[in-house]
Amino acid sequence: MSNLKDIYILGIESSCDETSVSIVKNGVDEIATAVLSQMDTHANFGGVVPEIASRMHIENFTIVIEECLNKANMTMDDITAIAVTYGPGLIGCLLVGVNVATTLSYIYNKPLVPVHHIIGHIYANNLVSKMEFPLIALVVSGGHTDLIYMEDNYKFKKIGGTLDDAVGECYDKVARVIDLPYPGGPLVDKLSSSGKDTYPLPLPLDDDTYNFSFSGIKSAVMNLVHNENQRGNEIRNADIACSFQNRIIEILTKKTMKALKEYNVKNLIIAGGVSANSGIRNKFKELCDKEGIKLTIPNIKYCTDNAAMVAAAGYFAYNKKIRAGLDLKADANANMF
Ligand code: KG4
Ligand code: ZN
Repeated sequence: MSNLKDIYILGIESSCDETSVSIVKNGVDEIATAVLSQMDTHANFGGVVPEIASRMHIENFTIVIEECLNKANMTMDDITAIAVTYGPGLIGCLLVGVNVATTLSYIYNKPLVPVHHIIGHIYANNLVSKMEFPLIALVVSGGHTDLIYMEDNYKFKKIGGTLDDAVGECYDKVARVIDLPYPGGPLVDKLSSSGKDTYPLPLPLDDDTYNFSFSGIKSAVMNLVHNENQRGNEIRNADIACSFQNRIIEILTKKTMKALKEYNVKNLIIAGGVSANSGIRNKFKELCDKEGIKLTIPNIKYCTDNAAMVAAAGYFAYNKKIRAGLDLKADANANMF
C-alpha cells in the first residue's frame, strides 16, 4: 500500500500519563493514532502518580501499538523509522517508551529517531497546516512557557520563557485553590466563561522582555481566597477563573504580538496543552486576523500529549539524519536549546 517515496514514521509518546502510538506520513498526514489515557486513574490522587503511570505504560503499550497498526491497516514492514520522546518528562514513564522504541528498532531493524517532547508539541501544528518560516512559536504546557523563533525546520532560538512556573502549572494550582479536581486547567477555562472579570489580579511581569512569570498571579489568587475566607466573604469561583484567565491571556498576547512585529514574522504557531484553552485560542485568532498573521493551533485532541506530534516531528528529524542508537537514554530534563 505504501509508495516507496513516502516516509512513514511510527511515533511513541509516554512522557506523562498518556500511552500513545501514531503513524504519520511525510510529517503531515496522520494515518492512525491510538491513545490510552490514565487520567481517570490519576484523578483519584489529585495528580499524576509517577510509579503508577510507569506501570500502566508497561501494561498498555502492546495494546496501543497493535491498535495503531490495525487502524492504519499496516505492519511494521511498512514503517520507515521509529520516533520516540526521550525527554523531558517523568523519568520512569520516558524509560518505558524509550525501551519500547529501542526494542522495536532492534527487532524490525528500523532507524531510531529521538524527539524532544516540546519539539513534538510544536510539530503538532504541521498536522493542521504546513508551518511557514520564519515563525514564532508560543509553547504553553504544564512544564513550559517559551517564545521561540524558528528560522527553518528544526532551528530553534529561544527569545523568552518563564522565570518560574509554567502557565499550565499555574492553571492547575489556581484550580486547586478554587476546589476544582485534577486536571484543573480545562476546568478553570470552562468556569471562566460563566464568570466576570471582577477581581483585581496583577498582570504578570508586564515588562519589555519576552520573559514570563506566573508565580505572582498564583500567589495573588491564593491570598485573595485566603483573605476572603478569613472575612467570611463569599468566593465567586467563576469570577476568579475569569479574572485569572483574562490576565494570562493579556500577558501572553501582549508579548507574543510584540515578538511577531519585532521579528517580522507572518506565521504564529501555538503549542502545548494550554493551547487547548478557549480564551487563548479566541483572543489570538482575533488579534492575528487583525494583523494579517497566519495563526496555527493544533486541533484540540493534539494540544495535549499524543504520539502524532512525535511522529510529525520525527519526520523532520529523520530527514535531518538525527538518529539514536540502541543505547538511547531517557532524559527527564532534556534541554531543547
Ligand atoms: O502539554 P501537556 O499535555 O503536558 C505537558 O507536556 O506539560 O499540558 C498539560 C497542561 C496541564 O497543566 C493542563 O491543565 C493544561 O495543559 N491545560 C489547560 C487546558 N487544557 C489543558 N490549561 C488551560 N486551559 C485549558 N483548556
Ligand atoms: Zn506535553
